[in-house]
Amino acid sequence: MCGIVGYLGPRPVLPLLLEGLKRLEYRGYDSAGVAVRSPAGIQVCREVGKVASLEAKVGLERSRFAGTEGIAHTRWATHGVPAERNAHPHRDDKAGIHLVHNGIIENYTTLRKALESKGHSFQSETDTEVLAMLVGELYEGDLESAVQAALKQVTGAYAIAVMAESEPGVMVAARKGSPLMVGLGQGEYVVASDPSAIVAHTTQAFALEDFTVCRLSQDGWRTSNLHNAPVSPKVMELEMKLEEIELGDFPHFMLKEIFEQPEALRNTLRGRFNAEQGEVILGGLQQVGRDLVKARRIVLTGQGTAWHAALVTEYMIEEFARIPCEVQYASEFRYRNPIVEEGTVLVAISQSGETADTLAALEEGRERGAMTLGVVNVVGSSISRMTDAGVYLRVGPEIGVASTKAFVGQVAVGALMAIYAGRRRHLSIEATKHLLVELEAISDKIRAVTAQSDLIRDLVAKVVDRENWLFLGRGYNYPVALEGALKVKEISYIHAEGMPAAEMKHGPIALIHDGMPCVFVAPKGSQHDKVIGNMQEVRARGGRVIAIATEGDEAIVPHAHDIIRVPECPEALSPLLTTVALQLMAYHAAVLRGHDVDKPRNLAKSVTVE
Ligand code: F6R
Repeated sequence: MCGIVGYLGPRPVLPLLLEGLKRLEYRGYDSAGVAVRSPAGIQVCREVGKVASLEAKVGLERSRFAGTEGIAHTRWATHGVPAERNAHPHRDDKAGIHLVHNGIIENYTTLRKALESKGHSFQSETDTEVLAMLVGELYEGDLESAVQAALKQVTGAYAIAVMAESEPGVMVAARKGSPLMVGLGQGEYVVASDPSAIVAHTTQAFALEDFTVCRLSQDGWRTSNLHNAPVSPKVMELEMKLEEIELGDFPHFMLKEIFEQPEALRNTLRGRFNAEQGEVILGGLQQVGRDLVKARRIVLTGQGTAWHAALVTEYMIEEFARIPCEVQYASEFRYRNPIVEEGTVLVAISQSGETADTLAALEEGRERGAMTLGVVNVVGSSISRMTDAGVYLRVGPEIGVASTKAFVGQVAVGALMAIYAGRRRHLSIEATKHLLVELEAISDKIRAVTAQSDLIRDLVAKVVDRENWLFLGRGYNYPVALEGALKVKEISYIHAEGMPAAEMKHGPIALIHDGMPCVFVAPKGSQHDKVIGNMQEVRARGGRVIAIATEGDEAIVPHAHDIIRVPECPEALSPLLTTVALQLMAYHAAVLRGHDVDKPRNLAKSVTVE
């Protein structure tokens, strides 16, 4: 959570910081702040609310913020309510240290008590102010060594950018656990939580490794560990294109990303299979392919949408490869004394590659001897670096807080892994070729779903005032029902529950009355008749049935009030189409209810805290 941006160079810094904050706003947006070094000293402005509120406030006294060095922050509250006093940058009370932070300082209570006993007094409830104060306490004229010394006393996660009043032209950044990159321009540096705040200025950058401190100055840069031994980061060329992180003609990133899914899926699949020969080629798994095929058990883990993608993957792995597979919430796996025997493969699924619980589950699995694989979107992210091997999603940056195209990428990679292992175990060459041909065809079929966006909006408008919705599906479309409910909850704030359609009779059916929207994810498949039976049960109790059904399926017509059609495809791949219909339902529900789709309340894009 939280976005950091810092700049040191020759250009006026304020507009640059505000632009960077807007690009990082998806990471958290309950308050924001800037600190700019001006001729009169470091000037700070902080404001509750979105970056636009900060921009308005700082705009009133723009001349005070004339300078070419500064740090800025957009916050997702952990310690202390969203309030100006808790917004970053924080400063110490002695040495003129200004600091922005993403992460959690776990031992902040102990540190705070120790600092209070030395006479420091705190203005906020945050862990970050404690860190600023600690750096100030240890400061003896050299910011880099004060930061190194302070971080030796800290447990927890941090990405920080720091300035000291008495060291103009110097900025220090450091990282453990939370992401931070340094962009290297012509005589200028941009420090940021992710590349989206860097690419407009330079494409040369490096990611800081854990326990690395970076000192930037007009004379150059250097990186070291906490004991001041030099560290050599790998400078890379950022591949992100500016248009990938801009809205273009779309009103929201979420809609843009829903519509990008055909192309995103093509990118996920490109070069990874040969349908004619029935071959899956996963470069990232080359070294470990044998272990995957021989696995005695596969455990898939993740959170939220990634967890739903894991459920679909579980069904595919068991069906195609016949390897026992289970899905565990990362947050549960890490604390439940999990069974990891020889031959257990732990697969972490994550868009950001930074989700704290997923990272911790991986660590737990690795310690217990599991081979670890990552199915991750963000290249170079923590999960991608700590796993033994993995497959990138390649769906491009996902900026809308509600995950959409990452899900499609995750399911597609799951399919490739399942077919890869399946072909080496139980799947015939004919069945393999058929699946791959069908997988290739899905991109165009997604277009047939997004083309119904207006129809979906009109259909949603009929039920958008209802506060409780059910999402029901069977087999491969049971996880899709969960995902549909999650999407509706998180952006439209309608209470929604997803469940296996058969489960309804075991309790939730009591809720159904008087036009309650019940969304059945019901493409043609092995349990189609059963799903129709469940629809009848809902209609008999006054529920309103909205069906996601296969084109040409007439059997469903008498049982549904409204129907969204998806093209025909193998049952196992149907989540790649049905989910898109539900994403659009959630999107339109949120817009019709007047919500900020890309920045839903209380949420942030990546959950880097427990
Ligand atoms: C829902 C959503 C979240 C994430 C979850 C895991 O739309 O975005 O549920 O899926 O926080 O995040 P990643 O995939 O980054 O590990």
